[in-house]
This record gives sequence, C-alpha cells and structure tokens, in this order.
Amino acid sequence: MDWGLRNRLSRIIAPGTGRSVMLAVDHGYFLGPTSRLEVPRKTIMPLAPYADSIMLTRGVLRSSIDPSILNSIVLRVSGGTSIVGEDLSNEGIITSVEDALRLNASGVALSIFVGSKHERQTLLALSELVNEGQKHGMPVLAVTAVGKELGKKDARYMSLACRIAAEIGAHIVKTYYCDGFEKVVESCPVPVVVAGGTKIPEKDALELTYNAIKAGATGVDMGRNIWQSDNPIPMIKAVRKIVHEDATAKEGFELYRKLSKLK
Ligand code: R5P
Repeated sequence: MDWGLRNRLSRIIAPGTGRSVMLAVDHGYFLGPTSRLEVPRKTIMPLAPYADSIMLTRGVLRSSIDPSILNSIVLRVSGGTSIVGEDLSNEGIITSVEDALRLNASGVALSIFVGSKHERQTLLALSELVNEGQKHGMPVLAVTAVGKELGKKDARYMSLACRIAAEIGAHIVKTYYCDGFEKVVESCPVPVVVAGGTKIPEKDALELTYNAIKAGATGVDMGRNIWQSDNPIPMIKAVRKIVHEDATAKEGFELYRKLSKLK
C-alpha cells in the first residue's frame, strides 16, 4: 500500500486505538431533508469535534462545513436514486475521485446492493472506484446496503456482502450489526464498521456499539442514533468511550445519562 493511501486511512481509523468513530450524515443523498438533518450545518458542526471522520456528500461538505475542521472526510460518491423513485439499488458513481481529491477527502464511499437486480452494476461500480482510487491513493469504503428486497439481515448475508466488497478491493466495509457478527468480521479481511440503522433507544444503540466492538468491529459509521437523539453530544461522547476506551455498554450509558443530566 502506498504512503498516501496509508496516510488517508490513518486519518479515518485512529492509529492510537486502531478504531474509528465515523459520523454518518450522508442520508440526504436519497432521503432529502431527513428529520433532524434538515439544516446540515446545525446538526453536523456541534458534533464534529467528537468524530474521527465525517461521512457526507460533496454538496453538504461544500455548503455546510467549515474548511478549518480537523476531521477527516469520507465522501459519499454513489447515488442517483431517491426514496420516492422506483429502485434504491439502481445507484451509480456521482462524484469523481478527482473531485474527492480536490476536496481533500480521506476516503470515498459507495453502496453495493448484493442480491438486488442491480447487484452487478453496483459491484462493477465498486471495482471502478477501487481502480480509480488506486491511481491516487484514495481508500474506498464499501457500504453493504440492506433492504426488504435484499437478503435477510443475518450473518450469512452480511458475511457474503462484506467478503465480496473486500475481494473487489474495498479498504473498509460498512455493514449492519447482526447475531453472529463475529463471523462477519472474521471472514472479512479488511476493517469492518457498523452503521446504527433506524433510531432506537440510546441504551440499545450503545449496546449495539459495544457488541459490535466486542465482536471485532473497527468502529461505527453512525448517524441517526446520534443526531436523532435528544442529546446528540452526550450520545456521540458515549459512543466514543465504548469505541476508543473499551468502555462497556453500561459505562457508555452512564456517561450518556450524566452528560444529558438525566436522572
Ligand atoms: C445509508 O446508506 C447511509 O449511507 C448512512 O450513512 C448509514 O445508513 C449510516 O447511518 P445510520 O447509522 O443512520 O444507519
């Protein structure tokens, strides 16, 4: 691996702990103004100091993020679909690696839809992105999409999707936590980070974080369970404590309650 690529990866995965708290705020690329992300700047900027990396689109980066932030940027570069359109799996590459370089991104992210009718299209797009990324030392994060029409959200499906992403050359794979998650991590030869998914109670989201780390995940790429919380800063701090300090779910939740001034 060349120096530039390793340097960018070390901006996403903290060398001190080998772990990562990525703040996912890219949802608008197909959902539009999602609840509590209506004004991206207001949601993202207060949380930025507590994230290692921020995952977002170039449009939100350019319009809403101060160029002086210290976080690394992982740019969502796949899209072309919407929640009101026909098929969410029909994605293509929407941002070039050249533009990602111009924006000083430390990585680019693309979704794959294994098991969908656009499986081949999205896997070939991943391969194209890896090829292009290799020319410039740009790491690629593959997002394993889930959905009703795709396989069941279980260890067998997740292992399949993650392994395929790694075989094609993704440097990091983002997936969803499930029972038997250690098998997913074990059979994926590159770092795995977990998404949070739809909003659940803070205690449960911190348990998910703890269980994922215990099973070998490198960290989280979490969105709604942070910024849809009534107390987003205490929540990201609690997630951070679990990811970077090996705190238990209970310790994380105690911190969340304390910082939120909850009884
Ligand atoms: C979905 O593909 C989006 O890319 C999000 O980044 C991802 O789902 C993680 O966010 P959340 O924790 O809200 O699920």
